[in-house]
Amino acid sequence: MCGIVGYIGKASAPSILISGLKRLEYRGYDSAGMAVIEDGKVVITKAPGKVAALNERARNEWPASRFTDSRAGIAHTRWATHGPPTEANAHPHADQSGGIALVHNGIIENYRPLRTRLEAKGHLFLSETDTEVLSHLVGDCYQGDLFQAVCDALHQVEGTFGIAVISATEPGRIITARRGSPIVIGVGDGESIIASDASAIISHTRQVIYLEDNDIAIVTADHVEIRDLNRVPVTREVAELGFDAEAAEKGGFEHFMLKEIHEQPDALRNAIRGRLDFNLGTSVLSGMGTSPRDLAEVQRVILLGCGTSLHAGLVGEYAFEDLADTHAEVHQAAEFRYRNPLVNRSDLVVAISQSGETADTLAAVREANQKGAFVMGLCNVVGSTIARETGRGVYLHAGPEISVASTKAFTCQVAVLLMMALKLGRGRRFSRDEGMRLAREIEAIPTLVEQVVAQSDAISRIAKSYADNEHAFFIGRGYLYPVALEGALKLKEISYIHAEGYHAAELKHGPIALLVDGTPVIALANDVPGKDKTLGNVEECRARGARILGIITSGDHEAAAAMDDVIEVPACHPLVATIPTAVALQLLAYHIARHRGCEIDQPRNLAKSVTVE
Ligand code: G6P
Repeated sequence: MCGIVGYIGKASAPSILISGLKRLEYRGYDSAGMAVIEDGKVVITKAPGKVAALNERARNEWPASRFTDSRAGIAHTRWATHGPPTEANAHPHADQSGGIALVHNGIIENYRPLRTRLEAKGHLFLSETDTEVLSHLVGDCYQGDLFQAVCDALHQVEGTFGIAVISATEPGRIITARRGSPIVIGVGDGESIIASDASAIISHTRQVIYLEDNDIAIVTADHVEIRDLNRVPVTREVAELGFDAEAAEKGGFEHFMLKEIHEQPDALRNAIRGRLDFNLGTSVLSGMGTSPRDLAEVQRVILLGCGTSLHAGLVGEYAFEDLADTHAEVHQAAEFRYRNPLVNRSDLVVAISQSGETADTLAAVREANQKGAFVMGLCNVVGSTIARETGRGVYLHAGPEISVASTKAFTCQVAVLLMMALKLGRGRRFSRDEGMRLAREIEAIPTLVEQVVAQSDAISRIAKSYADNEHAFFIGRGYLYPVALEGALKLKEISYIHAEGYHAAELKHGPIALLVDGTPVIALANDVPGKDKTLGNVEECRARGARILGIITSGDHEAAAAMDDVIEVPACHPLVATIPTAVALQLLAYHIARHRGCEIDQPRNLAKSVTVE
């Protein structure tokens, strides 16, 4: 999704802006642009496509001195919302005078009436974007003080924004503000960097300030002053970023996705470490901020998420009901606030979001808060908006996930949900011994995953023989049903093969009509309750000519005999089996996409962090 970088300091602003944009590429985007201040003028260059195209254009068209001498600027990667990904629609956008430039993440909902009003005053617009309206509005409010102009303009807008603004007449400062779209300010030594995401900052400094909604900051090379929209000063603490720059690099793997699949044993160890109590047979999740008594009052768990996080929630639903005897339900977060959900104070609402910035999940969190529920976040990105707004929850500690297709976040989400269910279950039905046994199963997850990751080359060979198909079905039942959905999502996201996940029993209620000779059916037939029925469904598919790839438990000859090809995963507790099985499907999708020559880390049309509704 859109990314913002701003720089002011002692180094070459264009070079830092370009390298910052590159670090945000993982978010997904379709055009890019930057603006710098030079000799009392604002100079803007934009290009459709990749940051590399923007860099090439600037290198070709700009005098070399602009690269060496510009000390302040703003830049943006745009993911089209209003208007196609053209040069004209790319950010930064100038105001009517050309002396002010602005980059923006989010959506200005009342941009049409604002535009009409400005047009009546003689403003000419060059793009179809809501952002250009905001930059003209700032220009319209400008009377020699950019900070005041941005305050006045933001008072008139409805919607969400993270913005950075520069003015030719005030080269020593950048104004930045947020409402609903994250802004982080890196505080360096004689330099400041503004970004929508800490990844663009970490190679410069670890000292950062997170803006809160309706904060507006005056950023100079050596000072950050934060106020609210009424100019009242506010204090925000300087926080220390916890991950280092190399962690965000590929580390010798061909793609971030493959690196992140391979990181899973360690990521899971980090997610689990220190959180299992083998003496009491429970888990220790202090961020939940709940006493056993609070948990005893929980009558229902509501899980919210989108995409892969939604699928993790579906596994969680089984876990809370099975392990904790607690009614659980999953809601697609975008739907939550529009259906007037019945929520009350005995509900525990868990918002699941890798990025912690997904707009729909955030809106659902706010809705649940309104209804008085006990809301917590299950996020990976520390300090993200959902983590901060929920104020309680559990971090995944999976490390930065760069690939758009989520892998390690999913398995860590499931592991944390199992630990939450264990904690709740221990207060309800589990004896100490039962709790201890489950804790041991959870502790073993990283080792189980290691055994699947070690099969990457063998899975690549199987994947090659499936890479030319255009359709695929994934089937599973019980705990493995959500994993079938996630397997299909992974395949379609990165290989562009049309893939559908179904409950194994559901296939015969329609989709089976699509099976022809050789149609791949990936059957999750681990040796867990329900396996025999799934094998029956496999026979139904085979009878229609389908080619069956089974994910089975190691050494299960009966299941192997029912399949054309198999990937084996180690035997384990049925709920825990969701994790190694998901890893096998991640590797399958990855290798199929690689054999098809797809752009794996940044699939077309997709964004890592979806900050619009
Ligand atoms: C996007 C990403 C998915 C992700 C979903 C939810 O669609 O491409 O990989 O699962 O957003 O993201 P979240 O950060 O809330 O988990």
